[in-house]
Formats: sequence, C-alpha cells, structure tokens
Amino acid sequence: MAVTDRVHWIGAFDPKMRTFDVILKTPNGTTYNAYLVRGSEGVAVIDTVKAETADQFFTRLEAVADYSEIKVIVLNHLEPDHSGALPELMRRAPQATLYISDAAQLMLKALLNNSNIAYTPVTTNDRVSLGDRTLRFLNTPYLHWPDTQCTYLEEEGVLFSGDVFGCHYCDEQLFNDSVGDFRFSFEYYYSHIMRPFKQYVLSALELIEPLQINLIAPTHGPILRDHPRHYVERYRELSTPQLHLEIDHDVKTMLIFYISSYGNTMHMAEAIRDGALEIGGFRISLYDLEGGEVEPFVDLVEDADAILVGSPTINGDAVKPVWDLLSSFAKINVKGKVAGAFGSYGWSGEAVRMVEDRLRGLKMRVPAGGLRIKLIPSDVELEDCRDYGRDIGAFLMGKPRAREIDMSQL
Ligand SMILES: Cc1cc2nc3c(=O)[nH]c(=O)nc-3n(C[C@H](O)[C@H](O)[C@H](O)COP(=O)(O)O)c2cc1C
Repeated sequence: MAVTDRVHWIGAFDPKMRTFDVILKTPNGTTYNAYLVRGSEGVAVIDTVKAETADQFFTRLEAVADYSEIKVIVLNHLEPDHSGALPELMRRAPQATLYISDAAQLMLKALLNNSNIAYTPVTTNDRVSLGDRTLRFLNTPYLHWPDTQCTYLEEEGVLFSGDVFGCHYCDEQLFNDSVGDFRFSFEYYYSHIMRPFKQYVLSALELIEPLQINLIAPTHGPILRDHPRHYVERYRELSTPQLHLEIDHDVKTMLIFYISSYGNTMHMAEAIRDGALEIGGFRISLYDLEGGEVEPFVDLVEDADAILVGSPTINGDAVKPVWDLLSSFAKINVKGKVAGAFGSYGWSGEAVRMVEDRLRGLKMRVPAGGLRIKLIPSDVELEDCRDYGRDIGAFLMGKPRAREIDMSQL
C-alpha cells in the first residue's frame, strides 16, 4: 500500500490480537507496521513484523520490490513484534546492511541467538543515502525499550517513529483520517507504554519537534498523515506535569497512605502526619486505602515527592489494597522519590519489611527504617511515629536531623 510516492506500507494486520505485552488490552487488534522506502540508488526496509505474520510482510514486500534491490534494513526497536521477520529478511537480502541503535547491539544477539549478524550501529544525525532519498537517525532511548530510535526520511518529511505515536488499533483503511475513532487506543497506549518514561519522551521531543513532519509512520496502528503534529503536541501535553496548578510548582508534597482494621495503623499514620507538619514547608495528604481503589492515586503519586505506606500485618503479609497501590507504581516513574513504610502488627509483623523492600526495589529513597508497632500504639510509641514523620519531613526538605543512636536498640 502506497504511503507516499516513495514509501510503501509492507506491514501485517493482526485483528484478533486481544492482549499485548501482557499489560495491554487490545479490543481492536493491532497492526505491525513496516515500511519500504525507494531511493534512486536502492531500497530500504524499515522495521519488520511479528514472526507469525511474516507471510503478509514478505508478500507485500515482494509486490513492490525485489530482494536484490534492498540496500538498507533499519530496525528502530528490537522487540519481537518488530524483529520477528528479520532473520528471514536478512537471509533473502544478504547484501543489505542492517542499521540499529548503539543500545540495540547486545539485544540483537540475545534476541536472534546469533552472534554472527553483521550490523552498523547508528546514533542521532547519522545518515544513510539511498541516492535521492536520505534516512537520518534520531536516538530516542527508552521509548519504551533502551534501544529505541526513530528514522527520518528527510526529503519527504516522513518520521518512522517506531512505537512512539503508535497504538494498538487494526483497521485496513490504515490512515488516521480514514480509520475509525482510535483516540482511546492512542491515549491508552501512551499511558501504559510511554508514561513511565515521560522524561525520555520529553528528551525525544526535543529532537522530533524541530523536524518538518508531513507524516508520522509508527510501528502500530494508524499512519498519521492528517495533522501529524497534533500527535506530537499531545505527547508533549501528556508528558508535562499537569497537577499543582493551584499551588506553587516548587512546593513539595508528601502522601501518606494507610489501611487499618482496628485503627492502629491509622493512628500511626496520623501521628506521622503530625510530626511531618512540625517540619513544615511542604504539603501533606493522608489517604485511607479502605475503598480499595488505587487508580485515582496514580496521578498524585507521580507528582509527589514523598510517599509513605502503612499496612497492618494480616496472615504474614501486607494487605491487598496496599499491594495494589504498590503495583500501580510500575505505571509511572517513582525512582528517587522519598519513601517509607509503617504499620501495626500482632506478633510476627512481616508487612512493613515487605513494603519497604518493594519501595527500595522501585529505587525509591528510604531514609529511615520502617516503623513497626505492636498492636495499639502507646503514647510513647505515638511520639516515635511523630519523630518518624519529623525525620522523613526533614529529609524531604534537605535538612536531615542529627539523631542520637540508642545503643540498646541495636
Ligand atoms: C485475620 C488477622 C490476621 C492477622 N495476622 C497477623 C500476622 O500474620 N502477623 C502479625 O504480626 N499480626 C497479625 N494480625 C494482627 C494485626 O496485625 C494486629 O491486630 C494489628 O494491630 C492490626 O492493625 P490495624 O488496626 O491497623 O489493622 C492479624 C490480625 C487479624 C485480624
């Protein structure tokens, strides 16, 4: 299918796909988009398809070019849904040179289990000439794998964007102005795939926004030929912090989440809040997870500077709403945020350590050891909670408190 005079879509339709990358529901199926670019001195193939759909890819490729014409193969991203047909393509076009990003080199060997593959690593502003057409590479790491790059066809203003600006939506009309309404899929794809890498999206946009873009050719979903810049702008909007509109951007925030059956962990949470308030200079919010809904908190956590999580120990574990909250952190980037765990327990008290391990596993900064209190907190123990709040608050404000170490507690 012709995309422009010089660009053909040679991808594959997968309308029955219903779950992708484990985490995505794909009610409209998906497409694996691959493209062929014809220059006066050779042909380039940009990306391939999932192995199971390779027949479609080779049939479409053969309809527009001979294998002997292929001079260049570009893989913008090595995930198997784009590299599946690569070994067979290289077997059929052995004269072609494979271009991948620097970061893709080790992945290539591990994915294809073949260390003898010849390739040329490229980075931002490296170019490959096809005679009267030129491909320029843009290094856009972590969108959404470390190896991601985009490729820009200079003379046509076509951006082969890999998974960036893509979505799972299968419609044989292919172009964004002809397919059905795919807004849901576009936003859903961003929030599940790109959102944890917002900072990298913003870096990539610095390279993409200055380009003259007539058309965006992603690896999944509709080809964006109508108002392509709209999608670039949307990525910037989605990647730019939106909260804090009512308060100063510089004001730090602490969120304290808890759940509590008899009120013990709740009283700890309140005392921790009171201690942190004494430090002052930042906003504190206290949330009960009793309702079990964690989705509404994800935006808040993404913007927060410190997150404390309180859980009682029930049957040797933290409770489900707490794990739900913690597992939702994988959707966003929490690395480097200040964190802590606390909770009441009856006899073995495993929950706090488990929550703390998870927070550390997410590369959050945990400045004070988790706070556990046996059953009902006494007045002295509530003071310990306030002290814990003061410690975390002071750490958050960059003025850690000098502490006397009580040797008897070691
Ligand atoms: C069903 C149930 C199971 C429990 N299992 C444990 C446990 O495995 N280990 C433990 O230390 N405490 C256990 N406890 C005790 C609670 O952790 C303790 O009562 C705690 O103070 C509850 O705090 P909360 O009022 O914040 O919910 C259990 C309590 C209940 C009701």
